[in-house]
Amino acid sequence: MCGIIGYVGHHDPKGILLDGLKRLEYRGYDSAGIAVLEENKVEVFRSEGRLHRLEEKLGNRRFQGHVGVGHTRWATHGAPTEVNAHPHRVGSITLVHNGIIENYLEHKETLLKLGRKIASDTDTEIVAHLFDIEVSKGQTLHQAVLNVLPKLKGSYAFVILNDKEPNLLIGVRNGAPLLAGIGKDESFVASDVQAILSRTNQIIYLNENQFAVCRREGVEVFEANGKKLSPEVKTIHWTPEQMEKAGYRHYMLKEIHEQSRALTNTIESHIDQAQGKICLAGIDSAKSKLKNIGRVSIVACGTARHAGLVGKDYIERFAHIPVDVDYGSEFRYRDPILAPGTLLLVISQSGETADTLAALREGKNRGVLTLAICNVRDSTIAREADHVLYTNAGPEIGVASTKAFTTQLAMVFMFAVEFGLINKTLSEDAAKSLTSDLLKLPTLVDKALTLESAIETIAQELQHHTFFFYMGRGIHFPISLEGALKLKEISYLHAEGYAAGELKHGPIALIDRNTVIIVLAPKDRETKFDAGGHLASLSQTLHEKTMSNLQEVKSRGGKIWTVGGESEAGTAFDTESDYFTAIPNSTWSLNPILLSIPMQLFAYHVALQRGTDVDKPRNLAKSVTVE
Ligand code: F6R
Repeated sequence: MCGIIGYVGHHDPKGILLDGLKRLEYRGYDSAGIAVLEENKVEVFRSEGRLHRLEEKLGNRRFQGHVGVGHTRWATHGAPTEVNAHPHRVGSITLVHNGIIENYLEHKETLLKLGRKIASDTDTEIVAHLFDIEVSKGQTLHQAVLNVLPKLKGSYAFVILNDKEPNLLIGVRNGAPLLAGIGKDESFVASDVQAILSRTNQIIYLNENQFAVCRREGVEVFEANGKKLSPEVKTIHWTPEQMEKAGYRHYMLKEIHEQSRALTNTIESHIDQAQGKICLAGIDSAKSKLKNIGRVSIVACGTARHAGLVGKDYIERFAHIPVDVDYGSEFRYRDPILAPGTLLLVISQSGETADTLAALREGKNRGVLTLAICNVRDSTIAREADHVLYTNAGPEIGVASTKAFTTQLAMVFMFAVEFGLINKTLSEDAAKSLTSDLLKLPTLVDKALTLESAIETIAQELQHHTFFFYMGRGIHFPISLEGALKLKEISYLHAEGYAAGELKHGPIALIDRNTVIIVLAPKDRETKFDAGGHLASLSQTLHEKTMSNLQEVKSRGGKIWTVGGESEAGTAFDTESDYFTAIPNSTWSLNPILLSIPMQLFAYHVALQRGTDVDKPRNLAKSVTVE
């Protein structure tokens, strides 16, 4: 999941490449490098560690050349050392690469037999040798691409530069994202539009097995078999300002605070407010097919999967269709049953996650209806799904997902309501009432955000504990998983999320005086709809059971932080806990979204206290484009 960028134009590439790499650093940050073609000679600068180390190395250096490539790495083959850092240079070839070349060992053996010296442990260098062999025989870089691609197995994207052909860069896509940007007398290639958006918003998204030939004069796109294409040039509407921290200390904090705006944008773009009705243009043409759906299979990874778990509750309750939720990395390997009448719903912020994309392709190959909930427009998943519903959260840069998650919850909620109407399992009145609840959500989220300073204090007091146990029941259970994931990934503390009722079946053995137990306990009125889709009953059974689970852990000595609703303040949930936080009272269905806010703020402030790199936690990358 490295980040790659290439530039050909009329400026010194240094600033353009470094700026692009800064915006791509979320993809990997264990080493970085750039190469610039100077008077028919490429100069390479590489450095272990974060990008600032490379910047220090480059100092005030200025370049006369106008062509260059850059890379920020998340190591797969070979340790994150300078020698393994990209760009890799072999003969007259300079290459940066994202992804994995699965048959590199086979090629390495052949290259060694040919007497070639291999300097690094990477699969990338092997590809650079294969290109060098071709251009040494007098082939053009274009021809070399056509000759080398059939020899490579794996999923990858790379950008190549040949000393002998200045004013030319070739970017190849096969399994990892890559796009080309068209500027005024300049062209770009990059893993992600964020890298080049400050220079151009005219973008060509490459599809699999395509390559872009970029010159100062423009971009041409070809298929791997050499056929020239006429690609669509898209205009991107995200602004570079949306990608700045706007005065916040971290992107994560900015994105936490942006949630009411992100939710407003997501909700209002999918609701006809005059009629109080949800209108999902993305599934308009799928409505007749949705009538015949008998099962929904949700596939996603990490945080997006947690959104899927909440989505299961919404869809089963509103649309009365059974739902299962799978990990992207597991789904296709267990020969899933995808009978006709199944809807495959994939959820992905980036739209580029390799495992989720592979699950989507599996579904398409098996001929089932596919729908994606995505944040990034024109991402691979968005382009390949039969239908797409966009969350309009804006760019999410912090590695730990926050606003993407809550907007995914809002989106899957709207889908479930619409699906319920299509299936006639939800009456118009019930749908209207759910829609009007949803419209109030951004205000409630703003109110929940005012809890920050109280949560900061709790974080300060609890940060020295070593084990954090999150528990919730029903629709709150996925939020316990999400709360634990947030804490793990940015504070490096051990955290587990559990269904509160499962505690006594094993995990309660872990609880002692050093454990913090985070109880998610807003009133979870269980809403039922009668056969006509009308609201039938409200009960509060789970709430009482969660109280029993709280007592079970309290008697074993754990420190308890309960997050409930305002109506729990002063009740046993408050008095029996060491700490109590009240989220604004809302309907049961929106509590998962409101509960997410204290979970995010707590993880953020614990991480801040512990001095970790909140936006770029160790070993992680935002867009996981390798399996
Ligand atoms: C955690 C996080 C990850 C992503 C996961 C899927 O904070 O961000 O768990 O949710 O890698 O990413 P997308 O949604 O881009 O498919």
